[in-house]
Amino acid sequence: MSVNDPRIKSRVFVRIRKEKFGYILFERFTRVHYFVTENKTLEIFSKREIKDFLRGYFGNLTEIEYEFINSQNNSLTLSAPIGMYMEISEKCNLSCEHCYKPKEKTKQGLSMANTKRLIDELYEMGVFEIRLCGNEPTISPHFFEICEYIKSLNLYLGVNTNAYFNESMQEKIIDLRPDFIIISVDGTREIHDSIRTTGSYDKVISFLKRLKKTSIKRRINTLVSKATICSIEHIVQLANSVDAGVSFLPLRTIGKSTNFKKDESMDANSMFSVVKKITLLRKQYPNTMLLTYFDLLSKNAIYHHSMDFNKPCPSRKNGFITYDGDFFPCDFLRYLGDKYFCGNVIEKGFNSLWCNSLILKYFQCLEHKKCKKCKFYMIKCYGGCISGAIASVNKLDDELCFAHLL
Ligand SMILES: C[S@@+](CC[C@H](N)C(=O)[O-])C[C@H]1O[C@@H](n2cnc3c(N)ncnc32)[C@H](O)[C@@H]1O
Ligand code: SF4
Ligand code: SF4
Repeated sequence: MSVNDPRIKSRVFVRIRKEKFGYILFERFTRVHYFVTENKTLEIFSKREIKDFLRGYFGNLTEIEYEFINSQNNSLTLSAPIGMYMEISEKCNLSCEHCYKPKEKTKQGLSMANTKRLIDELYEMGVFEIRLCGNEPTISPHFFEICEYIKSLNLYLGVNTNAYFNESMQEKIIDLRPDFIIISVDGTREIHDSIRTTGSYDKVISFLKRLKKTSIKRRINTLVSKATICSIEHIVQLANSVDAGVSFLPLRTIGKSTNFKKDESMDANSMFSVVKKITLLRKQYPNTMLLTYFDLLSKNAIYHHSMDFNKPCPSRKNGFITYDGDFFPCDFLRYLGDKYFCGNVIEKGFNSLWCNSLILKYFQCLEHKKCKKCKFYMIKCYGGCISGAIASVNKLDDELCFAHLL
C-alpha cells in the first residue's frame, strides 16, 4: 500500500475485482493497481465506508469514484490477468534490426467477429486493461474499430506504437482518446533512425509534441543496448520536455539473429552502468518517471511490476494473444516453438485456458530460487524479466542482474 505514490493525482476512479485472497484495486487515470489481502467483504460496506477504505490506498485529498467488477475465480492465482496484450496486426511498417518478432505471417489473423468475441470474454472475466501491441497495431485495417470496441466496454485501452505515421493519423489516434500511448524512442535522431529508419525520429517527436497538448497518458519505451546507452540522457530530456515517463527495456537476443543483436547486446556490467545513469538522472529530473529493471541503486525503487505474491510476472499478471488467437504467458515465450503455447483462444476460449492450461500452471508455481536469497528481492527488484531470460539464454535467472557486482 502506498498513499505517497507520486502517480496518484487528486481524482481517482477505482475498479475493484474480487479475488481468492481479497481484492485488486485498479486505478484508471494512473494505471496503478494494488493487491489487497485484508479479510474484509467490501461489497457489504456502505458507500462511505468503501470510500474511506480506498482513501487508505489513494490518499485523503482524493475525489473517489469506484465500481465493483464481476469475476469468477477458478484459476490457481488471479481470476483474470490484470492486462492482456493483443497483437492485432501480423505485419509491421518497419523492420528494426533489434526486433524479436518474425516477419513471416504463417496463419490467418482473427476475423473482426472473433476479435470482438475475445474482447467480450476478457471484459466478462474482469481484465482491467487491453494493450494493443506489436507488430505495429496502427497499421491493422481494424485498428480503429477494435479501439472503439474496447472503449465502448469501458476497458482501459493502451497502444504500443512506433509512431511511424503522418499528421492526419496522429490526429485520428488522439481523437480516439486511448487511455495510454506507449511510443518507442531508442536514442538521438541519428541513433534512432539508424535502428529504425531514416525520418522515423522526426515523426515520433512530432507525435509526442502533439500528445503533450492532450491529457492522454504517455510513455516512451527505450531499447537499451550498447549502441543506445549514450542516448539515455537525451531520452530523459526529451521525456521531461513532453511530460512523458520512460521505460528502459534491455535488448534481448530473441528471434532472428542479426549483427545488431550480436554486437550490441547487454550484459551485467553494461546493465549496471545503465542503472547508474538512470539513478543520477532521477536527481536532475525528479518529475520524470524513469522505469528500469534492477533498480537497485535508488533509495526508492520504481517497479515494472508490483511486488506481490512472490511470483514471476508471466504467471498471471499479463498475457499475450497473437494475431491468430494463440495464447502465451508472454510474447517473448512465443519464439521457442510450442513449448510455452497455452492454446488457441478461439478454439478453447480464454477463460478455459486461463484456468486449465498446464503451461500457465507451471508458471504459476514457479519461484525465483536464486533471487529469494537476495537482499533486494521484493524490496527493489522483482527478479528481472523471467521470460526474457528463458527466451534469450534458456535460464530462469536473468543474466543482466548485476547484484553480485555491488
Ligand atoms: C515489439 S514492439 C511493438 C510496438 C511497436 N512496433 C514499437 O516498435 O514500439 C514493442 C517494444 O518491443 C521492443 N523490442 C523489440 N525487439 C526487442 C528485443 N529484441 N529486446 C527488447 N525489446 C525489444 C521495441 O523496441 C518496442 O519498444
Ligand atoms: S520494434 Fe516495433 S517497429 Fe520495429 S520491427 Fe519490431 S514491431 Fe516493428
Ligand atoms: S538476484 Fe534476483 S532479486 Fe536480486 S537483484 Fe538480481 S534479479 Fe533482482
